Amino acid sequence: MNEQLSKALNDQLNFEFYSAQVYLAMAAYCSGESLDGFANFFIVQAEEERFHAMKIYKYLNDRGHRVTISGMDNPLNEYRSVLDAFEHAFEHEKLVTRRIYDLSDLALNDREHATIQFLKWFIDEQVEEEALFDSIINKLKRIDQDSNAFFMLDNEFAQRSFTPPAL
Ligand SMILES: [Fe+2]
Repeated sequence: MNEQLSKALNDQLNFEFYSAQVYLAMAAYCSGESLDGFANFFIVQAEEERFHAMKIYKYLNDRGHRVTISGMDNPLNEYRSVLDAFEHAFEHEKLVTRRIYDLSDLALNDREHATIQFLKWFIDEQVEEEALFDSIINKLKRIDQDSNAFFMLDNEFAQRSFTPPAL
């Protein structure tokens, strides 16, 4: 694979860790509001992002590239509401999707078929992520001021867990 592609993959690796920080900041906001289920949702999301990062870490190493880890910007820590946090999360996932598409374009231009194949997993994952956040936002909007329904959703998200598949 060419230098531009391996560098872009390394950047994405670091961006996945940044995504984990973004979601952990959202978890911290929810914990601060005593919404432990929503907090758990975002903690699990952060775990998923670290898994994504390590998937790229392994791939680059397997392909003989030296990985470098860089620092990240501070994520946003303050939100107006849980809905506001989920709307930021949805925007973040759309940004990730654009980045994965850009990576795929680079891989296609380089005729790097192994990387094209590797990125397909991320493309599928992004479809899932966007659908997930979209549906939660719709639920939260429908719930609106119904505090019973809101706390039921908080309870439901307390059950979310992440079992990492093999890298
Ligand atoms: Fe991700």
